[in-house]
Amino acid sequence: METHPTDSRAQITTMALLVTVISVAGCVQQPNVPGYSSPVTDPYASKRWSSPAFTTAHASFGDAAKHFLNVKPKPQQPIDFPHKIHTEDIGVYCQDCHTGVKTGPRAGIPSINICMSCHEDIGDPKDSRIQLLRDHAKRGEDMPWQRVYGFVEESHLRFNHSPHIRAGVDCATCHGDLTQMTVAERVVNHTMGFCIDCHKQKGASNDCLTCHY
Ligand code: HEC
Ligand code: HEC
Ligand code: HEC
Ligand code: HEC
Ligand code: HEC
Repeated sequence: METHPTDSRAQITTMALLVTVISVAGCVQQPNVPGYSSPVTDPYASKRWSSPAFTTAHASFGDAAKHFLNVKPKPQQPIDFPHKIHTEDIGVYCQDCHTGVKTGPRAGIPSINICMSCHEDIGDPKDSRIQLLRDHAKRGEDMPWQRVYGFVEESHLRFNHSPHIRAGVDCATCHGDLTQMTVAERVVNHTMGFCIDCHKQKGASNDCLTCHY
């Protein structure tokens, strides 16, 4: 296993940051804060890269070490889904596919039925991606998309899209410009510093229990 000096440096920075935040904000546990007693059900839980922690889910010690060091594996998608074609070229809105984003915690990944509403007819039948899509649909199976963003279970984080969208925060602030991507890539690092800097700026809560449970 390799250890990267930057990893431990990052952890030290995090620790230092935490100490600062705790001493400045005087963080006290507030058990009476109405929390989400049970985290919202994640329909994609089984597809998250962060699924079960130190279990047989880690094929090797290397995987477990990567998980520990928070090195996120690059997702392996069944086909390259071209965001650019669908958003910039043909003008489908983000929210037409990620329908939950305005109303709830999760944006959601569209089911194959959404794809087939166009690709029943559209698309070169010789394109292997279109073939695979139609084959899955014929068998009544969904596409096994892997998660790009997400948190490890142990961080006990909750995130909610809808208040951010209502407050006018752009998708690109947290995900980069998907209209220029062929495949969704993790281009923004969702560290604690990233979240609390903006919360401080916009006057949103930086209470530990706003984000952690
Ligand atoms: C609103 C209609 C619409 C929806 C919904 C849609 N697509 Fe497309 N898609 C298109 C069009 C139009 C093209 C461009 C086709 C072309 O250039 O031949 C395209 C192109 C593609 C391509 C590239 C193939 C090529 O010929 O360049 C892939 C792969 C693809 N779509 C997959 C998907 C998947 C997966 C979904 C569901 C998540 C989806 N599409 C949903 C309309 C749609
Ligand atoms: C035609 C449907 C469609 C449209 C329109 C679309 N997406 Fe997606 N999006 C998908 C599919 C399918 C995936 C899963 C495949 C992947 O991750 O590459 C995905 C994945 C993502 C992911 C990664 C999610 C994760 O953590 O796994 C983000 C972020 C995202 N989309 C943001 C956007 C934004 C922002 C827009 C508008 C600019 C947009 N999408 C428009 C279908 C769509
Ligand atoms: C304030 C930051 C922020 C903004 C703004 C934001 N997202 Fe996200 N998004 C996240 C985080 C954090 C996650 C991972 C959440 C998790 O796994 O618990 C995520 C996950 C996703 C996912 C994966 C599936 C899911 O439901 O979690 C998709 C798709 C997605 N975002 C699309 C979008 C789209 C589309 C927009 C704009 C309309 C958007 N996001 C705006 C931070 C943001
Ligand atoms: C670019 C600015 C920005 C970033 C980045 C950001 N937030 Fe926020 N967040 C806001 C604003 C603004 C609000 C307050 C919205 C309101 O008052 O309705 C908010 C509210 C919240 C809430 C409260 C939701 C509720 O139900 O009231 C949570 C939880 C949250 N953010 C978590 C996160 C997490 C976790 C991250 C990092 C992954 C993050 N935010 C990143 C701007 C941001
Ligand atoms: C605005 C959202 C937000 C607030 C407020 C917040 N955190 Fe975090 N915290 C995060 C995010 C995001 C991470 C990074 C998780 C990751 O990398 O998977 C994190 C990581 C952590 C970690 C490291 C956990 C791990 O092992 O990955 C600790 C410890 C922590 N936070 C404690 C706190 C404490 C104590 C407070 C209150 C002073 C606090 N946080 C307030 C969002 C927040």
